[in-house]
Formats: sequence, C-alpha cells, structure tokens
Amino acid sequence: MELSDRHVVITGAAGGIGSALARRFHAAGARVILADQVAPTSVAASLPGSIAVQVDLSSEQGNIDLIDRAESEFGTIDLFFANAGVALGTDPMDDEEVWDLSFAINTHAHRWAARRLLPAWLERGEGYFCSTASAAGLLAQIGSAPYSLTKHAAVAFAEWMSITYGARGLRVSCLCPQGVNTNMLAQSSPIGDGGEVVRSVGAVLEPDVVADIVYQGILDERLLILPHPEVADYLKFKATEPEKWVAGMQRLQRRVLGY
Ligand SMILES: NC(=O)c1ccc[n+]([C@@H]2O[C@H](COP(=O)([O-])OP(=O)(O)OC[C@H]3O[C@@H](n4cnc5c(N)ncnc54)[C@H](O)[C@@H]3O)[C@@H](O)[C@H]2O)c1
Repeated sequence: MELSDRHVVITGAAGGIGSALARRFHAAGARVILADQVAPTSVAASLPGSIAVQVDLSSEQGNIDLIDRAESEFGTIDLFFANAGVALGTDPMDDEEVWDLSFAINTHAHRWAARRLLPAWLERGEGYFCSTASAAGLLAQIGSAPYSLTKHAAVAFAEWMSITYGARGLRVSCLCPQGVNTNMLAQSSPIGDGGEVVRSVGAVLEPDVVADIVYQGILDERLLILPHPEVADYLKFKATEPEKWVAGMQRLQRRVLGY
C-alpha cells in the first residue's frame, strides 16, 4: 500500500522504532497520529500535521480512546501500527503483574485495537493492520519467558488476521526484528541481559534503517517483515532440526548468560 495521504496511527511512538516509523511514513506523505504512554509531543512537533496522543494502552479502553481520538481527527484510519511493547520478566516464577502487563501490551493491545477497527475496515473492504512482534516471536527470547510467549502470540494473531480477513480486503504485516538500537535494548532489565544475547548473534540496526525496511514491506504488503534476513534461515533450521536448534540455543545461553 502506498502511504501518501493515508491516515496512520503508530503506538509506542515516543522513541525507538515507533518514532522512526512515524518519521518514515510522514516523509512518504502520510498523516500520522503518534501514541504513547510517554507524551510523544517532541517527535510530533517535528512532523508537521501530525498529532501526539498520550495514552496507556494496557487496557481495552485505552485502545478504544486512542482510535476514537484518531477518527475524530482524521476520519478513517487507513493503517494502524501496534508497535508499543514491554520487555519484562524472566521465568514462570515472575509475579502475575509481570505476566499480565506483558500480555496486555505485547498481545492484547493488538487484539483490542483490531476489535475496534475491524467492523469499519471490513465494511469498507480495506484496512491495514501492522504489529511489531520480534524475532523472539518466531524463535525464542533467551532470558525472558514472558517476552517469548507474548511475542509468539503477537505473530500468531497477525497470521490469523491475515488468513481470516485477507480475502475481505485486510492487509497485515508483522515486524520481527532482532536487535535494534533503542532504549529497550539498552535498558538493564531481564531483556537487557537477554540483550547481551541479541547483541552477540547479529547486527544491531538503527531504528531509521528498520523503518526504511518496514516502509518497503508495507509497499510490498509482506506478512512478515524481517529486517535481519538470517531470522528466516533460523526459522527454517528450527522447523527442520528442532532438537539441534534448542541445543544451540542452550549453548548460546550458557556462553552469554552463564547458565
Ligand atoms: N529494540 C529491539 O531490539 C527490539 C527487537 C525486537 C522487537 N522489538 C519491539 O519493538 C517495539 C518497539 O520497541 P523499541 O525497541 O522501539 O523500544 P522503546 O522502549 O523505545 O519503545 C517502546 C515504546 O512502547 C511504549 N509503551 C510501553 N508500554 C506502553 C503502554 N502501556 N501504553 C502506551 N505505550 C507504551 C513505551 O513508552 C515506549 O515508547 C516493541 O514492541 C519491542 O518489543 C524491539
């Protein structure tokens, strides 16, 4: 889909990948609503005609409020990009709050947005749903069970949406990068340790590079957007040799994390 004159909503747009997407789509002529729990005002101010919305997307109401606001500003939303994400937790012993918040942002927010957007999109016979999952959603995130599970669910939801509504005009893309140079990778959090793994296995891309690849992926209407092409090879290897794949991941975990 061409983005010129399209109405686009991007979540998690205060920085990192989301703000880079906003810059790239704006440069292509889109009108952009930037949403984040941290007010994305400075990014929006640099993109004439765009709008910043401060919103907590960890509830269905937050997603409804965002979409209502976007429709009142722009009318129809052509493309919704569920990019906001959290990297929390380590293992099954994490508190329920960690699991709940991980699922709320990384998975349920996608579903809540789709629930609000789909009726109008299906009636129009057109709409574009993009989400940011992760290579961890196709493979695994060493060091974080909540991240691995919630990102797998995000990939599954994108795939399901494409299968179910593709013939009725819905386009779907799911972004699955490895390392990207953002706050999330830099933070010392469980995934910060996992981030050591990410840094050790491949290139850490700049957000603007990822945004260029996403832009092309949307023009081509690709279901999976893989800024690190080797992820497709890992996925093939995992599917054909799962035990060897897991053994290799165990060695990587021991080498980088020491357990
Ligand atoms: N950086 C990486 O290496 C990497 C790799 C793969 C996937 N990702 C995914 O990319 C996406 C963007 O992350 P990023 O790397 O740009 O990091 P980031 O931390 O800069 O961006 C995440 C954004 O989500 C926002 N957010 C979190 N909880 C929210 C909530 N409740 N309501 C509204 N906004 C909320 C944050 O405020 C932040 O601006 C995430 O989904 C992340 O999981 C990142």
